Amino acid sequence: MVSPKQLFPLPPAGANPKILIFGDPHGDFDPVIAAVERFRPEAIVLLGDIQARRPLHIALQSILTRTEVWFIHGNHDTDSDADYDNLWRSELADRNLHGRIVEIAGYKVAGLGGIFRSKIWDPRRPIEEAAFMSGDAMRRSMRPEERWRDDISRRHRSTIFPGDYLQLLRSPPADILVTHEAPAVHPHGWQAIDELAETLGVQLVVHGHHHQDIDYIAEGMLTAAAPFRVFGVDMGSHLAWPTDPQDSTESEGPSQDLLDLAVEVFGAAAQDWLGKPHKLFDGQTPAAFAAGGGSEKVRSTLNAIRNGGVV
Ligand SMILES: [Fe+2]
Repeated sequence: MVSPKQLFPLPPAGANPKILIFGDPHGDFDPVIAAVERFRPEAIVLLGDIQARRPLHIALQSILTRTEVWFIHGNHDTDSDADYDNLWRSELADRNLHGRIVEIAGYKVAGLGGIFRSKIWDPRRPIEEAAFMSGDAMRRSMRPEERWRDDISRRHRSTIFPGDYLQLLRSPPADILVTHEAPAVHPHGWQAIDELAETLGVQLVVHGHHHQDIDYIAEGMLTAAAPFRVFGVDMGSHLAWPTDPQDSTESEGPSQDLLDLAVEVFGAAAQDWLGKPHKLFDGQTPAAFAAGGGSEKVRSTLNAIRNGGVV
């Protein structure tokens, strides 16, 4: 059995994580099964590109009594009839979180599967410019002989239609947003994901698709004052949530008094200062340095600047 790749902190020994969120499996479930056996989470979420080689409930049979299984689909889940059927015709098909919010292990989890395809809708353009608002509208425009299984093409069943997005956007608040596409902080990410996360008021966004383990705050790509944390998760890897309480206290960013102090010293430029790498903090941003346990040094630096020192 492959040992699970665990890139992110887990709760303290003795406390099982509530949710493990896995990067794109692409047909390899050994790391998923190994992690569930080891960490005993209440639930797991797969971030798409599942591509099970057997129906998903068969592939995950050994853990179905141990944890709750949820997923979103990815673009590769419509690559072939087998990819499609092993997901959408499996006994776990109703565990797709796409376009809805489900309470999982005490968290309200919103899901947006699939990818944006500009032939249907480029979310950088107004929704009115979309070719079709929904899969249903697209189906109605097609002649019966053009359809796949009397519906839209297999490929576009993993396309994000504006209607799917709007349905989620108009939903009640959620705690976590899981997406296949990345938010804007990723070079190939989308502002539409950020807008969705902000509207839903989530504290956490986790994406797959790009095969990279990344904590964007720790990397200094987001400031700790961002409205939500963002993680990317690689194939064969997972994010445990919630993270270690000690870690999350530190990682949620500078404490309120540190933020207040930064505003006192820098005014409107406080966020810029917190988000800019500085040699005093080993080349990290003050926000990331504070998140990594260095908040005292950031505080004393701010005090020095406030008292007339040049840093
Ligand atoms: Fe993908």
